[in-house]
Amino acid sequence: MALPRTYARLDQALAKRGGAPSPGLVNEVRALADRLGFRIGGTPLSEVPNASGERTLLAKWESENEFGSVKDRVALALVADALASGSIDQHRGFVEYTGGSLGVSLAAIASALHVPATLVMSEATAPSIVQACRAAGATVELVGPNPGFADVMVHALDLAERTGEHFLFQHANPACREIHARWTGQELVHDLDGRRCSALVAPIGTGGTLVGCTIALRSAGSSTLAVGVTPAELPYGSAEAPNALPKLAGSGGLGHCMRQPFVVQLDGPASVESVVSYSEALAGMARFHAATGRWIGSSAAAAWLVASRLSLDSRSKERTLVIFPSAGTPEEQQRAAAHDLADARRGH
Ligand SMILES: Cc1ncc(COP(=O)(O)O)c(C=O)c1O
Repeated sequence: MALPRTYARLDQALAKRGGAPSPGLVNEVRALADRLGFRIGGTPLSEVPNASGERTLLAKWESENEFGSVKDRVALALVADALASGSIDQHRGFVEYTGGSLGVSLAAIASALHVPATLVMSEATAPSIVQACRAAGATVELVGPNPGFADVMVHALDLAERTGEHFLFQHANPACREIHARWTGQELVHDLDGRRCSALVAPIGTGGTLVGCTIALRSAGSSTLAVGVTPAELPYGSAEAPNALPKLAGSGGLGHCMRQPFVVQLDGPASVESVVSYSEALAGMARFHAATGRWIGSSAAAAWLVASRLSLDSRSKERTLVIFPSAGTPEEQQRAAAHDLADARRGH
């Protein structure tokens, strides 16, 4: 079936954007983080219990980045790349869409550099995120009512075309995958210190984290299975129309069979997708918190549940690696705690 016209433009734009990011990207990114005094990268890799408490997993705590998520690395990379190519400066700003985490990082970095930032988000975005972006001086455009994420992306594409501002376009900007292949993934290789891992589990938003880290692990000689976690409400590659149902943070399919370009690159027998509903993820957040005293966000909790199952299946002595992209917003943590209480009352 033909793609509705609104999305055909998006699909074409996704396919068209490409090119290589600057060869010195990681050095430029590190230098930028140092110059701005932001503590980004070098996040811990530590053992955490699996959901049944029978095994341990190795978790990379991307929530430990300065602004609380894996997207801090991506924001630095997108901005450093755009600065290096002369696409943005103090007079010409950028436009980007965001599910939330990237927006918080971009707003803070743009503010420190005095680069104008316009962020496009769904009306349903957590108020704490909208407030943080506006407080940092970003212009926030809310799309609604009830848009799917692809609608938010289309809105940003239109806005960038209209205003002539630079469109960062995380789903198709190679800097977004490369920063994980050359930085986050290299940290994993270093911290594994020769230990092998059978699977890497990470949520799929753009797929940059999953694909970039998998490239790094496989380049280091590991035959790691790449396991992408995707929301039951609109999985990766789904033929359904985009919808506004609550989903794992920062994750999801685009609808109408559109596929994230980075993930397409990985499609094949050495990668699989695993589907988790928002309700399961909230229960996972509460369970992880009860077991460890620490909060992880809904996308991290979904990845933890999938990695927990894999760790039980795995007959080998190799470890299961899981990425924790964020700790979740205060709103999401409250929802998880309330969800747990409701489940307890129902006797689950
Ligand atoms: C909380 C959270 N989890 C997971 C992801 C997915 O990461 P990626 O875009 O690298 O696939 C994102 C991306 O925005 C996110 O914000």
